[in-house]
Amino acid sequence: MASPFEMQVTAIGGPEVIQKRSIDIPTPAPHQVVLAHTAIGVNFVDIYLRAGQAHSHNPQPPFVPGINAVGTVIALGAQIKDLQLGQKVTYTNAGVGSYSTHVAVAADRLIPVDHGVDDVRLAAGLVRALTCQYLLKQMRMLNPGTRVLVHAAAGGVGQILVQWAKRLGLVVLATAGSEIKVKTALALGADFAINYRDADFVSEVHRITQGQGVSVVFDSVGKDTFEGSLKCLEPKGLVVNFGTASGQVEGFALQDLHSKSLWVCRPTLRTYIANREDMLAMSAEAFDILGDPTIRLDIESVLPLSLASEAHRLLESRTTQGAIVLIPDDLINPQE
Ligand SMILES: NC(=O)c1ccc[n+]([C@@H]2O[C@H](COP(=O)([O-])OP(=O)(O)OC[C@H]3O[C@@H](n4cnc5c(N)ncnc54)[C@H](OP(=O)(O)O)[C@@H]3O)[C@@H](O)[C@H]2O)c1
Repeated sequence: MASPFEMQVTAIGGPEVIQKRSIDIPTPAPHQVVLAHTAIGVNFVDIYLRAGQAHSHNPQPPFVPGINAVGTVIALGAQIKDLQLGQKVTYTNAGVGSYSTHVAVAADRLIPVDHGVDDVRLAAGLVRALTCQYLLKQMRMLNPGTRVLVHAAAGGVGQILVQWAKRLGLVVLATAGSEIKVKTALALGADFAINYRDADFVSEVHRITQGQGVSVVFDSVGKDTFEGSLKCLEPKGLVVNFGTASGQVEGFALQDLHSKSLWVCRPTLRTYIANREDMLAMSAEAFDILGDPTIRLDIESVLPLSLASEAHRLLESRTTQGAIVLIPDDLINPQE
């Protein structure tokens, strides 16, 4: 077996601060199991925490980044009754960093995997599909025909959000940062797609909707788009600022909501899956989406875990479509 290791954020900074460190395979506490990871998700939040962007919780370096992975159970704590050695499981927001070959994790944060989604797609899609579940099903009643705007529609979350929204019968306007990404958004089913690096998306949305605007804007870009997102709303409309890829929203005045009775929300998946029953119910829906081969989720790259810094460079570069996944190096190069 290859030597176990983890990738650590050694200081707040650029991708180069992520360094490899050898570890021992952990011993489980009574309530934990030990997993050998098979695929590890890379999410934009990993970049916020590495770069020191203020978040709901900011770990101090050194820390192991990563919020989700898929793995096989290789050791059981003394109290564990309902999991078995060799079982495939996944997790997110389990209080451990996932950029590692092995991890000891609390059993009550694990989600059994028994639905046939392959490990790479599951690592790419779990957090993103769970996020889309709460965005589309738990924020506001979205009836067929409701107009929504999805920013960064060709990204990891964006791809699932567009397709799931179309399944619910919504009218989807999308933005994306290049002509290729605009084509992707349309191929995913978006009714309209705007290159928001070339065109003013606010005037485009009003042109397309004949001045009516949209009911909800799903805004994961933040600083560069939030003000415009508010301007795209119909009366009583909602902006969900669920990500800050361009930076955090600054200088927002509550009074800006007044004239059209607008709503704003700044949610996080962590809240929605804090309770185990909620997490499992949402996961069942996420698995249905990810298990459907007609749902497209592009895997931009599958990289060895030791190249985690390269994964961050790629995701930050704004050139990616879909998701990046890390694999323990010995699973990519079995001779190592
Ligand atoms: N709150 C939650 O519960 C939650 C959970 C999961 C994810 N998220 C958020 O969802 C968003 C998508 O996450 P993801 O991991 O799937 O990433 P992603 O969408 O694949 O990548 C981020 C995309 O944001 C766009 N972007 C706009 N301005 C940017 C800038 N200045 N720098 C970099 N990218 C910029 C880019 O697309 P274009 O080139 O098309 O503009 C980029 O590809 C992130 O904001 C993340 O924080 C939130």
